[in-house]
Order: sequence, then structure tokens, then C-alpha cells
Amino acid sequence: MSAMRPSRTVEELLTKLAAVLLGTLIVLVLCTWLALRFGAAVDHRPPPAGNPLAAVISLAAGATTWPGPGASAAAAAETALVIVVGVVVARHQFGPRRRLTVDAAVRHMASRRDHAAFSGERATAAATRLGVQGTVPGVRIGVALNTGKPVYGNWEMTQADIWGARRGKTTSRVVPAILDAPGAVVATSNKRDVVDTTRTFRADSGPVWVFDPQAVATEPPSWWWNPLSYVTTLDKAARLAAVLAHAARPVAARQDAFFDPKGEQLLAFLLLAAATGHTPITTVFEWTADPTEVMPVDILRAAGYDLPAQAVQGVINSPEKQRAGVYGTAEKIVSFLVNPAITEWVTRGAAARNRPEFSPQDFVAGAGTLYLLSREGQGNAAPLVTALTVATVEAAEELATRSPGGRLPVPLLCVLDEAANVCRWKDLPDLYSHYGSRGIVLMTMLQSWAQGVAVWGEEGMTRLWSSASIRVYGGGEVDPCFLGNLSQLIGDYAPRATSVSVQRGRAGSTSTTTATRVERILEVSDLAALPMGRAILFPSGSRPILVRTEPWYRGPHAERVRTTRGREPVLDGWAGYDLRTRDTRQPDEHVDGHTPVGLRADAAAGQYGRRATGASVGVPPDGVNLASLAREPTTPACSDLESWVQEVLAQVVRRRLGGHLTWCPEWYRHAEATMRLMSLWKEWERARSEGTMSNWWLDHCDPHLAVLMSRDNGPFMACTEKEHRPLGPLPVVPNGLGR
Ligand SMILES: Nc1ncnc2c1ncn2[C@@H]1O[C@H](COP(=O)(O)OP(=O)(O)O)[C@@H](O)[C@H]1O
Ligand SMILES: [Mg+2]
Repeated sequence: MSAMRPSRTVEELLTKLAAVLLGTLIVLVLCTWLALRFGAAVDHRPPPAGNPLAAVISLAAGATTWPGPGASAAAAAETALVIVVGVVVARHQFGPRRRLTVDAAVRHMASRRDHAAFSGERATAAATRLGVQGTVPGVRIGVALNTGKPVYGNWEMTQADIWGARRGKTTSRVVPAILDAPGAVVATSNKRDVVDTTRTFRADSGPVWVFDPQAVATEPPSWWWNPLSYVTTLDKAARLAAVLAHAARPVAARQDAFFDPKGEQLLAFLLLAAATGHTPITTVFEWTADPTEVMPVDILRAAGYDLPAQAVQGVINSPEKQRAGVYGTAEKIVSFLVNPAITEWVTRGAAARNRPEFSPQDFVAGAGTLYLLSREGQGNAAPLVTALTVATVEAAEELATRSPGGRLPVPLLCVLDEAANVCRWKDLPDLYSHYGSRGIVLMTMLQSWAQGVAVWGEEGMTRLWSSASIRVYGGGEVDPCFLGNLSQLIGDYAPRATSVSVQRGRAGSTSTTTATRVERILEVSDLAALPMGRAILFPSGSRPILVRTEPWYRGPHAERVRTTRGREPVLDGWAGYDLRTRDTRQPDEHVDGHTPVGLRADAAAGQYGRRATGASVGVPPDGVNLASLAREPTTPACSDLESWVQEVLAQVVRRRLGGHLTWCPEWYRHAEATMRLMSLWKEWERARSEGTMSNWWLDHCDPHLAVLMSRDNGPFMACTEKEHRPLGPLPVVPNGLGR
């Protein structure tokens, strides 16, 4: 859309005309004088007067004559030059308007003052006011193109993002926010990328919990969560039933006005009965599958919940068709409980009864990380993921209510990546407005406006989007209506091209009007084609800010993430060593395999020592500095396993790979390889100090490498020398002996 508005008066036009005439005159005089001078020099004639104006007047008055062909050639060249320059200027001024590139649009967008509200200084001031300590003052969103300075959302600002698929949401928003978080983090995802990139880094801050009921990251259930621990009141039972029902409902499903609410209510009472009777959550599914079962009625009545007991009895006594409909609806909501791979995560389980139970209350009081993974489609665990997210965030809210000022002392970052697929949290739009003030920083990442509408409806999505303190659009959207709204918010600008119209009145009078077109700074098509690496921030109360996005791998933590990414932290418990921990113990202190090192304490205190103090393992390009390895035999030569593998083993043991020999460049992603190499390293250190290196080769290195490098039956059998390819665990059927 564009509008016309009068902009210049006739006087302005006359002034401009006079300026153009004067300019033309000056150019003419100068060109003539230059031609005279050139001609005089070439044709050996007396030079013209030094003053160009005097020389031209003298020529015009006939006091001097035109020098000859040299001057004529110079005049022709000058005329051609003036014409070319004139055409370029005219095209620039009056030609068709060139479209703004997205970056050029920044001139018409947020001013430096608008930007100041999201500057590092302002965010630092907010963090100081809120008493939040940390290395960054808020969630860093990108670098503003107009100032070249970073833009932050402070710890009170909730955020919502729409970036199309593969636009960099995870790389440039989710991962950097998690790496910078000052306290606990809850992160959802439908891929393993977030976990792989951040878990080892985050392990330095506190415990890491990966909830992976659908094996998105092939995480074994080393802990469990009891959803019934959330059900402490009738109200909470109803809330949990509503959360599960909403998250379980297919996106386009039509609701039944009778059976849906009735089924949800029955489920709430059954959840309450199971929680009160201390039965596993799987009994809820058993009850929904058997509409004649009166056990929940008895439990509820015994616990004093008479009306809920009566309500369940009422459904049991209702006509068969109605009863089947209500029970069937409840059964469908909890149908994910039929899958033992999923229930392993929410029941104490048969196989490993000593697994720790996750407590949302304890979690929010610390600085740990909870990753919640689920994949859309059949057997979807999204209802459980949503329920655990709700339980954790509500625990944070309760802690905030008990804390001074009604806010968490350290903010909880809740990054809902792929929220529409993984965390279909019905009440989310209502929470946006006040969670910021509670110290709960919500970040909801969506691929499109339509995706949000499918979960929360048009009204709910509008509410979520408008109640977020910061909205970020990262490109890739195709909905013209949504993009049209963004384009309107970004606003208009007046391009330089003008149009002049002359109108003659009846009485012979003329009036001249100059009009300037007002055009959109960024049209819908510009927003649809927003280039990679750009995002537009729509803050509340300020003009939109164009930012350059910052993928984590170009950020301050890149190196540290790279060196820790993809390891299997489960090994920390198994092998008894943290791969990241500086290990300065003497070799005889190394008890292979099972001496737990103070994992987090060590990591927090020192971390990332590449070499033990006093040892120098210089590695020349062609191999290992053997002389340095021979020195200081009682000091460990390497401080961590990775250094040893990279700088010693891989340099000394050289093989042509192929045939029966293989290796994995990401060996640390194989539990077996890491444990074997850990043992090899410890033995190597011991052999150095005791002078028994030959035994190390024959008794330790050769047999381990024979297994590790075997393409036929080693742990790297599926990998190539360039690429890691994981193998699944061996099949195991529990025999119940652990009960
Ligand atoms: N600013 C950027 N410039 C270039 N490539 C990027 C940028 N941000 C992300 N990428 C790349 O784009 C791909 C998709 O990124 P990802 O964060 O997984 O997208 P999304 O989460 O939106 O699906 C990745 O390969 C990533 O490295
Ligand atoms: Mg992603």
C-alpha cells in the first residue's frame, strides 16, 4: 500500500530550478575554459586568462578566438562526459525506485533510542535490580544492524519466536540461551540436537535430566518421574487431566460437547484415586480399560472424596453406550501408557528399581537442566512431556511465590523449542503475561503462525504472541496475513522519488503539486524471503529492530561446546571418571574403573585443564615428543582422556584404515570405546612411571585395539573413518528377578 502526500511548495521548486541553472552555468564555464587551455597547449596558441569567467567573457566578446581542433576535441570529450554523468544522476533521481535490501531497511527502522531499551547496559541494570548474577545480563538475541551492538531481552522479558523450519531457531536462539542461562533450564525438543550440544556444558552447573520416552536421543531411563506426585489436590488432578487431554488431542480433531468433558472429568477422578491410593500411573489406564472396576470408587470414598467417588460410580452405573463413550474418551487420553518403553519413564519399573525419582520442587531450587524430548506421530509422548513441563514450571511458580518479591532468586529459563509438536500446553498464552515478573523466562519457538493456531486457536495464539515482551521473526513464514501484520508494524518510509503535477485552473491560473510516495519499509515478499542470518525483533513499546543472528558456533562458548559435545555423560557414573575433569592425581592413585571423581565439584573448581601441571607433552607435527614423555615419570603426562587419545595414542598408533580395520573420529560417543580407552590411558600412565611399557603394549594396548578397530565385531563397526554411526544397545528382556 502507498499513499500520496503534498510535500514541496512552488517556491521550493523555483529555488531548485535556480540552483540547477546556476550549476549548469558553472559547469559550462569551467568546461569551456578547460577546452581553451587544452587547445592552446596542443595548438601552440597563447593560453587563455587564468580566471575561467574572464576567459569565457573574452571569447564571447570576440576579444580572443577559438584556439583550433585541439580545443574542439577537448570540448567534445567534456560534453560526452557531462551527458554520461547527467544520465546517471537523472536515473538515480527519477528512475524506477530500487527495492531496499533487507539490510538497507535498517535506516528506516528502530532508532538508536529504540535500541537502547534492549542494550547490554539496560539489561545489566535490570539484572542488578533483580539481583541476578551471571556472565550475561539477559537472553542475547543477536546484534542490531543499526548499532552493531548486541540486543538482549532482560530476565523479566518473556519471548515468542516464529522462524520457519531449518532457519536457525535451535542454533541461534535455543542453544545460545541455554549456554548463557544463570540458573535452572527446562528445554523441550523433538530432536537430539539441543541435548547433544549443551548437556555436557550444562553439567557443570547442576544435574542433567534427559526425559526421552521415545528414544529421540537414545537416552536410557536412568531416572523416573511420577506424574501422580503432581496430584496433591482435586484441583491439580483436574489440571493434569486437562493438560494430558489437550496434549493428546490430534491437532484438527473436533471436540464432542458431551463425551470430551465427561471423559476428562472421569480421568481427573481416576488420577486422584491413583495418587491417593499410591498406585502407579499405569493403573489409571487399567481402570479406563475396565468400566466395571470399582476400586477407584472405594479409594476415593476411603480418602473422603465422596463426590468424586459418587461421580465415578455414576459413570459406571450409566447406560452401557454412554459409559463406554466416557471411559473410551478417558482411555484414549492415556493410551500412551500401554507402551512399556514410555511407562518405564513414569513408573518405578521392574528393571532398575534404584533409579532416582525426579522431583520438580528440588529441581527448580537448583541450577540443573531438564531436557524433554518427544517426537510427533504415533505413540507420541507429548502429553507426558507437557505434563512434566507444567509440573516443573508450576513448581518454579510456587517457589517464586514463597521467595522475596514473589520472584525466583535466579531466573528459570524455559525454552520450548518445537513447542507445537512437543509441548502442547493449553494454558501457555495465559501465563505469558505474568511469568516474566516471577523470574520464569518463557521462550516459545514455533515454525509458523498456523502451527500456533493449531494448538491454541486463533485467539489463543494472538494472545500468546501479543503478551510476549519480545517477539522474534526469523524468516521462512509464508502466511501473507501474518507477514502483512509484521510489515504494517515495521511501518512506512518515503523514498526520494517525487512526482510533480501541474494543474491549470479555469481562470488560467496554474498550480504545481509535488507528491512523495510512502511505501512499506519491508513488504510481505521481503519478509517471506528474509535472508538466513537475519531476524526482526518486535519488542513491546519500541519500533522493530533488525538483528544479525548469532549461531552458537560463532559465539563465546563455541570452543568449549565443541570439545564437550556428543559425549555420553552416562559414562560419568559407569566409568567413574569425568572426561572433562582435570586429573592431577599421581598414577598410583588411579584405581581403574570405579572410583567416582567429584564430578561437578571438580568441574566447577577447575575444568578443562588440557595438561597436568608440570608435564609437557609437546606434539610436533610428525608425532609425539618422546623425550618429553620420558621426563617426570611420576607426573601424569595427560590431564584428560581426550588429550591422551588425541596427542598420544592417535599419533603413535598409525594404521591404514579400510578392510578389517576401522575407527570412529567421534570415539567418545561410544560407551565401550571410552571405557576401554580410559583403562588403556590409566595403564599407560602406570607403565610410564613403573617402566613396564612393553607389558602395556602386549597385555593392554594390542588386545584392546584389536577389538576397538575390528570392523567385524568392534564398537566402531558401523562407523566410517569420517562419520560416527551409533549402534543400539543389545536386546535385554527383564526376568523380574530384580523385583
Ligand atoms: N546464521 C546462520 N547462518 C548460516 N547457517 C545457519 C545460521 N543459523 C543456523 N544455520 C544452519 O542452519 C541449519 C538449521 O539450523 P537449526 O538451528 O537446526 O534450524 P531450526 O531449529 O530452525 O530447524 C543448521 O545446519 C545450522 O548450522
Ligand atoms: Mg530446531
